[in-house]
Amino acid sequence: MTTTGSHDKADEMASIPTESTTSHGGADPFAKNGLHDIEAVLKARGVDAFYRAVQGWTEDGYALLDGREVVMAGSNDYLGLSRHPRVLAAAVEAIGRYGTSVSGSRALNGTIELHEALEARLARFLGQEAAAVATTGFQAGLALSAALGRDDVAFGDIRNHASLVDGMRMGLGTVRSYRHCDPDHLRQRLRASAGPGGRLVVTDGVFSMEGDAAPLRALREVADEFGARLIVDSAHDFGVLGRSGAGLTESAGLTDRVDLIIVTMSKALGSTGGVIAGPAANVRQLRYNARSLLFSAALPPASAAAALAALDVLEAEPERRDRLHRLSRLLHDGLRAIGFDTRPSTTPIVPVTFPDVPTAGAFWAGLCEAGVITNLSGPPAAKRAMLRVTVTAALDTPHVERVLRAFSVVAERLGTPRADEPLPPVELTR
Ligand SMILES: Cc1ncc(COP(=O)(O)O)c(C=O)c1O
Repeated sequence: MTTTGSHDKADEMASIPTESTTSHGGADPFAKNGLHDIEAVLKARGVDAFYRAVQGWTEDGYALLDGREVVMAGSNDYLGLSRHPRVLAAAVEAIGRYGTSVSGSRALNGTIELHEALEARLARFLGQEAAAVATTGFQAGLALSAALGRDDVAFGDIRNHASLVDGMRMGLGTVRSYRHCDPDHLRQRLRASAGPGGRLVVTDGVFSMEGDAAPLRALREVADEFGARLIVDSAHDFGVLGRSGAGLTESAGLTDRVDLIIVTMSKALGSTGGVIAGPAANVRQLRYNARSLLFSAALPPASAAAALAALDVLEAEPERRDRLHRLSRLLHDGLRAIGFDTRPSTTPIVPVTFPDVPTAGAFWAGLCEAGVITNLSGPPAAKRAMLRVTVTAALDTPHVERVLRAFSVVAERLGTPRADEPLPPVELTR
């Protein structure tokens, strides 16, 4: 392994000024340290990685950034459906029929037939009794708060998505975390928290940053030992894993043994919106009590229609999922062959880690220059400084080969960390 002066970079990050005060002597609420400070440090080094606007797409799957054709190797549009002709046509037709917005919440005046059709369809596809649609995946996660009464305790994987963390925090009950993907630690935590209330175990299915899959069967067993409910956020495995694409609960054989599945439509369905699905009583409870569902304008007609059409394509074209996994294999193997360890991922989300954020930033900028867009991340969103690289079915072999060439070239130039020995292939989750 080689590193590139990470000490200076850590010092630089540590020298970010602390909070300031207003002219009245109180703390200025807008002067807190945060990710914007990191963004400023990176920008001063010429790394402009955030809020970059794409100008469109070419027919052969390249994104247009600053007038250049680049490979988008950071998208969550796993099946490449956000520009599929059937999906586009359905969205346009829905706008013609229902307008651009429903201008109100589902409960009172914002429900249209498309929402009901989508709920019925998603419940069936996920093998659940019922489903409720939210305006975003994040709001679907926040809806958890309604299941957490004063005496209840929620146990979340320490690396859960922010929407689940916030959903648990917003509930009235107690929140506990357990070590990442560690059913034994969950057991200890459950054992230590006896009480009169209910217990919820909450986990991402596939984790969004590092692409590893939760040990769902073991978590279910532990939850059962304590009579706890199990909630799984399948944002990154819906449409990707499972025989029919229903996600990690399907591939783990737990379709009828989860208490709630959360899904977002902004990833494999190429649309926007969130879903909670499960036993009818559980869904009904949240539908009538979750503030993120009740007090927000409903999913726009175009998004609902796009998601419905995307479900048609997902079912009619399973070869998209095959292509996704083939490209994922190519990316994992290719990166490992040039010395990048892609563990712990076993999915199309491929993490490449670095000693610190500035080093990762320099690498990000090198890749961008070579025409490849990845996602730059670090604590607290991810455990370590990293580039999150993804493939989608909108790409093909030449795109992935370009990504791998770019990694090689930048690694030669920057001497960033690479394992000394060739790494064995990863066993991908299907
Ligand atoms: C695990 C997980 N859950 C929920 C969400 C939120 O979904 P949305 O972007 O549709 O609001 C995301 C989005 O990144 C996610 O990764």
